[in-house]
Amino acid sequence: MSSSFPTPRVVSRLPKVGTTIFTVMSALAQQHRAVNLGQGFPDFDCDPRLLDAVDNAMRAGLNQYPPMTGVPVLREAVAAKIAAMYGHSYDAGSEITITAGATQAIITIVLAIVHPGDEVIVLDPCYDSYEPNIELTGGSAVHVPLTPGTFEPDFGLIQAALSPRTRAIIINTPHNPSATVWSAAHMQRLTELLRGTDVIVIADEVYEHMVYDGALHQSVARFPELAQRSFIVSSFGKTYHVTGWKVGYVAAPAPLMAEFRKVHQFNVFTVNTPMQHGLASFMADASNHLSLPAFYQRKRDLFRAGLATTRLRPLVTTGSYFQCVDYSAVSDLPEAEFCQWLTTEIGVAAIPLSAFYQGGFEQRIARFCFAKKDETLTLALARLAKL
Ligand SMILES: Cc1ncc(COP(=O)(O)O)c(C=O)c1O
Repeated sequence: MSSSFPTPRVVSRLPKVGTTIFTVMSALAQQHRAVNLGQGFPDFDCDPRLLDAVDNAMRAGLNQYPPMTGVPVLREAVAAKIAAMYGHSYDAGSEITITAGATQAIITIVLAIVHPGDEVIVLDPCYDSYEPNIELTGGSAVHVPLTPGTFEPDFGLIQAALSPRTRAIIINTPHNPSATVWSAAHMQRLTELLRGTDVIVIADEVYEHMVYDGALHQSVARFPELAQRSFIVSSFGKTYHVTGWKVGYVAAPAPLMAEFRKVHQFNVFTVNTPMQHGLASFMADASNHLSLPAFYQRKRDLFRAGLATTRLRPLVTTGSYFQCVDYSAVSDLPEAEFCQWLTTEIGVAAIPLSAFYQGGFEQRIARFCFAKKDETLTLALARLAKL
């Protein structure tokens, strides 16, 4: 609305940030009625028992502020799950905090530990919130590429990026966008590299329950020396098909968690109560998360079998719910243009991998999300077959 009164000028804290590619592609997908395999969220609903559990909590009057750190039953359920899956005991009282999703968890960690002038190593390609989070602290992101082709971490390059100003490194396994996972050997290398330093590991493990072909998720919690210097971040939204609920958690040794909570309490303070109670009772049945690899592996295989009949070349997917494709047999267009063309002309939305690189990097790779109903995937494949 126009007004004759002036609005004060704001010097942007994040001058480089504009509209994200996810918003752009989703809007384009809607406009062109494209099948949206761009943004990473399921197009199917969660288990009705989870809805009932939240409904029961609301009707039982659990609607007021919970403790700042999260409701005890949920923190205990998270600690029990981590102990059962990765063999590390976190104290539910002092080492687990419930957050408003993983995104809030990550910015809160960064604000809690990064000082102006500090450096944080990020491995490109990476989730788009890391860099602005670091910038807001007055620190700087030091970008180290994962190896093109395999997306494996290059420990020589990571070692070269370490400096006396390195405060933290952010790792992400299973990985968005490449859909690869770190092995136990990678974790060992990281442990050795950081031994004797004060570098903190921020382990983004939001896809922890999406690891395929019988492999195990290599959480930093499995590696006692690494766990001692790490924040682990996970997301109930990803695990239980409720990305819109924005509930996640952080696990870390008590001294790190104490600093985290100082920022958390003045950031969101608390996370909504009935969702926390509902999630706690749903988690009591471990099959709800243990069944996830088989659930998504079947979708991965369905999608990949379809892609094999197209001119797109599917890259290896060992974790997460993403599938990258090399489209160089189809088009010479740069990635962003190709994804726009694919959306408007073929009717399937995808995300260019270059969007996950600082300053862009062109490899003729696009990322699809297969967390979709079988009929959505089948419709997308029928359209991609025309390429
Ligand atoms: C690697 C990664 N980290 C964090 C998040 C954010 O999770 P949440 O929705 O719980 O904030 C996402 C979501 O796409 C992600 O891909």
